[in-house]
Amino acid sequence: MEKRRVGIVGFGSLGQYLYHALQDSKDEYEIAFVWNRSAEKMRGIVPPELILNDLKSCHSRSPHIIIEVAHPSISAEYGPLFLQSADFLIGSPTALADDEVMKRIKGACTGHALYVPVGALWGGHDIQRMADRGTLKGLKITMKKHPSMLKLAGSLHDKLQQVKDAPTLLYEGPVRDLCPLAPSNVNTMAAASIMAHNLGFDQVIGCLVADPSLNCHVIEVEVRGPGSLDNHFSVQTVRSNPAAPGAVTGKQTHISFLSSLLAAQSRGPGIHLC
Ligand SMILES: NC(=O)c1ccc[n+]([C@@H]2O[C@H](COP(=O)([O-])OP(=O)(O)OC[C@H]3O[C@@H](n4cnc5c(N)ncnc54)[C@H](O)[C@@H]3O)[C@@H](O)[C@H]2O)c1
Repeated sequence: MEKRRVGIVGFGSLGQYLYHALQDSKDEYEIAFVWNRSAEKMRGIVPPELILNDLKSCHSRSPHIIIEVAHPSISAEYGPLFLQSADFLIGSPTALADDEVMKRIKGACTGHALYVPVGALWGGHDIQRMADRGTLKGLKITMKKHPSMLKLAGSLHDKLQQVKDAPTLLYEGPVRDLCPLAPSNVNTMAAASIMAHNLGFDQVIGCLVADPSLNCHVIEVEVRGPGSLDNHFSVQTVRSNPAAPGAVTGKQTHISFLSSLLAAQSRGPGIHLC
């Protein structure tokens, strides 16, 4: 059986984890290339023949799938190019909150698949099924993290500086407006907004809380289905994932990502949760 050739874009914590995990599963997978903004990070770990210097030439390494685990700006810029020659697993789906980027990437998945990893989202497939049937009426995702784990921009960056000892609500509103302000932290919300396609980025509500007492990432998912105001279908989950101070990604999310990569195949053109 032909090995599935994987191109890794980004060699931070997630990229390195995936690189080593794929090296350990040599029978089914092989690394087509590894790219990182600074080649320095790969030196001594990735053999020179696997290092790709220019992302524009990614097709020259004949990847079957390219996984972006660098930054949403990389997916926004190169996503359509990746999809010309391979399946594309988008590690930073916050990029898709920009309607223009979504249109370009969606328009490019005619011959290959765009895979959206569930990441830290619990119940993503259930949310998608409800959206498919039109029974999903509301979705709210609350993420609580230690302030040191948040990389925020604009007004949220300023709000974060004011956080002292108490848990502080930094944002509550449409996920669309939150993604550009917290591009590295709210991928779970972005994945949820893609799965909840009947609501989308404008109607899925995101809540971001900075809590100095936390040593884990907490994600609460609240789903509302059909029924009256005082008696309707509902599901609430709380996921608590230990994470070292300052880390963007918790360990269980690394493992979830590997499962997503292994599941990201044979689905054909279009957008798929994996
Ligand atoms: N989908 C999810 O649930 C989920 C979960 C965790 C992380 N992520 C995303 O995956 C990506 C990688 O996460 P990580 O934990 O490995 O982060 P990390 O900070 O450890 O690594 C990021 C890597 O990308 C590079 N990079 C950073 N900004 C860049 C830019 N603007 N252009 C090009 N390269 C850049 C860095 O040099 C680094 O090597 C992030 O975008 C993160 O938001 C997604």
